[in-house]
Amino acid sequence: MENRKLAILISGRGSNFVAIHKAICRGDLDAGICCVISNMPDAAGLDYARASGIDAIVLQSQGIERVQYDSLLIDTLRPFDPTLVCLAGFMRILGPEFLRAFPGRVLNIHPSLLPAFPGLHAQRQALEYGVKISGCTVHIADEGVDTGPILLQRAVEVLDGDSEETLSARILEQEHQIYWRAIALMLERVTRRK
Ligand code: GRF
Repeated sequence: MENRKLAILISGRGSNFVAIHKAICRGDLDAGICCVISNMPDAAGLDYARASGIDAIVLQSQGIERVQYDSLLIDTLRPFDPTLVCLAGFMRILGPEFLRAFPGRVLNIHPSLLPAFPGLHAQRQALEYGVKISGCTVHIADEGVDTGPILLQRAVEVLDGDSEETLSARILEQEHQIYWRAIALMLERVTRRK
């Protein structure tokens, strides 16, 4: 599994992490998860990681400045030598130092069709704007918030009467379909480069 190691960063539920792990277990994604790191100690995804025998690490971010937290994260990740760092609901903005440490190898998933509705509450923003189609995006992270080259997107229709919860749930189903596929695409690129 050399050159196909995924480090996954979460803050909560971790359903995207679980979907990636399941794709690996099914044999759909040829990769291994070297560690899961959460900035929140009570993230539900940590329990799944531990139950699955995956290294689960808590690196609390509360009260720590961005630059300091970034270098803490870099120091924690380096020994695992991850091929890709996958942000999966990680609610902390990473700075340039972090991105430079893993150049072009940090992926993010966002619940809208970027560049529409970046930032928090993307599904609520879509409903408030009144778009008829939203969706989700996996992209390579750059220094902006939810910006960077797009790898995959899936469209989801906004239905009359949708609430933030119902729309989020349908988008989430698609997130679970595209993240591991985007990872597979990236692993092809990265391993070809070597
Ligand atoms: C997802 O909607 C993801 O797009 C966004 O945060 C949510 C995380 O969900 N960045 P989960 O923790 O993967 O279940």
